[in-house]
Amino acid sequence: MKNPWCGIPLSDYEGHMDLPTVGQASLIADEFARVIECYRPSSAAMLGCAGGNGLNRVAGSTVRRLVAVDINPDYVAATHARYRNHIDGLEVIVADVQNDAQVFEPVGLVFAALLLEYVDLQRSLQFVRQHCQSGGIFVALLQLPSAHIAEVTPSPYVSLQDLSSIMRLVPPAQLRQQTADAGFVHITSKSVAASGGKSFAVEHFQKDRLS
Ligand SMILES: C[S@@+](CC[C@H](N)C(=O)[O-])C[C@H]1O[C@@H](n2cnc3c(N)ncnc32)[C@H](O)[C@@H]1O
Repeated sequence: MKNPWCGIPLSDYEGHMDLPTVGQASLIADEFARVIECYRPSSAAMLGCAGGNGLNRVAGSTVRRLVAVDINPDYVAATHARYRNHIDGLEVIVADVQNDAQVFEPVGLVFAALLLEYVDLQRSLQFVRQHCQSGGIFVALLQLPSAHIAEVTPSPYVSLQDLSSIMRLVPPAQLRQQTADAGFVHITSKSVAASGGKSFAVEHFQKDRLS
């Protein structure tokens, strides 16, 4: 069965994320910039990159190789068109993090924002493990439950309602347990809020850290 993300036009997704009632695009880009600044990796990957929101934030950083991955070929093509002349060392890859094996050389930092809500967690963490260097960092941004706002915020972009069938929140405690099973050590976490009112957890892990 086709993944519902492959039927959503990028303009719909980006229009939705930029709505004042959502306001999540800048929050994700800011978190990506923060983790790059914090860990100063020479290589990084953004899983579930959509149209590349935040990739431009590597400008002037330590990152010399940047991998952008998404299941939707149109999103990956748009990311390539937007950034190929602006980011040195950019690799764009169409892949399914639940089902694909090794698709790029491991990087020092793997970042996934609002991806784990749409995938099989255990299989996707194996993908993260395979593509993260030993001692490397994995950062996940998770949506937290809200008593007042639907999991997929209602918006004029009706195509996004197709996601309701596959979207399920991942409790941070579950992510910590399953990342530990996959060989990652939890480093730190925090919560952040978007202008639209939703809250998010940002969870940091290190692969194969020696204690
Ligand atoms: C909620 S969006 C998050 C996009 C992005 N991180 C941002 O800053 O807005 C989820 C993204 O993950 C992608 N995606 C969903 N399932 C995937 C899978 N199995 N493998 C790779 N990408 C996937 C979708 O196509 C979409 O671009």
